[in-house]
Amino acid sequence: MNTAKTALITGGTNGMGRAVAQRFLDRGMRVMVTGQTPASLAEARAILGDDARVVRSDAGDLTEIDALSRLVTDEFGTLDVLVLNAGLAEPSPFSEMTGRGFDAAFAVNVKGPFFTAKALAPALPDGGAIVLTTSIGNIMARPTMLAYDASKAALRALTRGLAAEFLPRGVRVNAVSPGPIRTSMIARSPLPDDVKARMEQQMVEATPMRRFGRAEEIAAAVEFLAFGATFTTGAELPVDGGWSQLLS
Ligand SMILES: NC(=O)c1ccc[n+]([C@@H]2O[C@H](COP(=O)([O-])OP(=O)(O)OC[C@H]3O[C@@H](n4cnc5c(N)ncnc54)[C@H](OP(=O)(O)O)[C@@H]3O)[C@@H](O)[C@H]2O)c1
Repeated sequence: MNTAKTALITGGTNGMGRAVAQRFLDRGMRVMVTGQTPASLAEARAILGDDARVVRSDAGDLTEIDALSRLVTDEFGTLDVLVLNAGLAEPSPFSEMTGRGFDAAFAVNVKGPFFTAKALAPALPDGGAIVLTTSIGNIMARPTMLAYDASKAALRALTRGLAAEFLPRGVRVNAVSPGPIRTSMIARSPLPDDVKARMEQQMVEATPMRRFGRAEEIAAAVEFLAFGATFTTGAELPVDGGWSQLLS
């Protein structure tokens, strides 16, 4: 019987989720990651190798979440770490935001994590952990990010609620709150390149440490919350170059 610890990382085909997957693989864990884009899925398979199970699954779709949960239980039995990381950020001016865009943000960023945690609750053993990815946007007022930031504020509230819910089971629930991290998220945004370049420059200037963070720095925090933070639950750990703590 394989006794290695197990992890599911939603949104693990790219960016910080993939860095978490690599870190867990390096610990000898069995890892399943999800994503959606064919190119990302193929790249994740190539980079993470045969030791990782790479699954296409929409993090905001309840039917797919149920199917994924069955797959996790069938393949792993128990799930030691659940990383709810998949996120959707589509900037839009307030006046142009559509109901569809708003619903899409809340489906992936709030509803998905809620129902994935619910579906996998029976698989999480005493001593297990859930780590959610929020955002420092959840304490900011950003003109084009209202729906995203509101969804990440809901996710922060969900972190506390889930922590209370899972307390009797001995499962800790915490969040990592990234500041600006160099991933494909900004690169994939539909904004024109010059706008993206200006945004990136502004982010660097606004960050006390004057740089973007690296996906690996998020992965280190997720590993700490999953394994090291044994007396911590319901918390949100900022990994943001000092932004939320020194400027807000
Ligand atoms: N980058 C930042 O500066 C930053 C700052 C604060 C918070 N965050 C949060 O950090 C998390 C990870 O973001 P990242 O920067 O690493 O972004 P990323 O490089 O774009 O990766 C996002 C991941 O989420 C997956 N994903 C998106 N929508 C999905 C869906 N509906 N179903 C399944 N998978 C989906 C993507 O899959 P595919 O690639 O296969 O489509 C990808 O694996 C997100 O929750 C994001 O909101 C990011």
